[in-house]
Amino acid sequence: MLEAVQRGADILRGSGNALDAVVAVLVALENHPLFNAGTGSLLTTDGTVEMDASVMVAASDERANRVGSRADSQAGVMAGAVAAVTRVRNPIQLARAVMERTPHVLVVGSGAERLARRVGLALCSNEELITERARERWRQQQESAQLGIGAKTQGHGTVGAAAIDCRGTIAAATSTGGVPGKIPGRVGDSAIIGAGTYADKTGGASATGNGEAIITRALCREAVMNLRQTTPMTAVRRVISRTLVLDGAQGGIILVDRRGRIGFAHNAAAMEVATFTSLAGIRHLWPDSIKT
Ligand code: GLY
Repeated sequence: MLEAVQRGADILRGSGNALDAVVAVLVALENHPLFNAGTGSLLTTDGTVEMDASVMVAASDERANRVGSRADSQAGVMAGAVAAVTRVRNPIQLARAVMERTPHVLVVGSGAERLARRVGLALCSNEELITERARERWRQQQESAQLGIGAKTQGHGTVGAAAIDCRGTIAAATSTGGVPGKIPGRVGDSAIIGAGTYADKTGGASATGNGEAIITRALCREAVMNLRQTTPMTAVRRVISRTLVLDGAQGGIILVDRRGRIGFAHNAAAMEVATFTSLAGIRHLWPDSIKT
């Protein structure tokens, strides 16, 4: 994770943009087999990989008022997402292509993969994305299901990033292989703008955890809306304790606001966070779980 964040930090330090930074971080995490995204994704009940990803970017007011990019022309905000893709090594790059190269926000399945080919993103076989670790977890899940017992919680491992650059543009991105035991065709929050990913000129957020609860609560949008009243840390703690904890669901959220302040909170067994600021550099954190 620290290597991934270093890539984003290098881009931001070099006056690069927030979108490039969050995508670079996610590509590195998708390529690492330990995370539940890209290579190493959890498997569906059929034993296949189906991945979701989304990205959203919001220009500052000042930039949004200038004529030019598509972000400027649509009130400074744009988003792209893919769902249930099976043959794309880096779904986050395809989500970015949906945002930048189509008039759409969400493209799924085989149509998304056709778009990948059209924009020059390499396709791979589904098998290439499956690690031995994911296969073993799938076997345990299948055995538990056959015995009629709940599988041991296997964690989530969805990856996400949020960043603000030196021009005030905010970007957030999320990528996942989904949740353990998902049926083929199930789409989680990581593909849904407002739920797993959200950005506007006040802040950007990315979520992990039980996708169904995160979708019904529009968790990331809710957290960003809370920035009107409070700090990033209070905003994220509030949405976790007032929504996921009450719903009996587990998850976590990271957030950055327009002043570059950072928030993160979760109520899962664990969630690792790495932060980068120009003043403090990169820090690796293990925030405590919120229980109530
Ligand atoms: N949060 C990941 C998922 O539910 O698919």
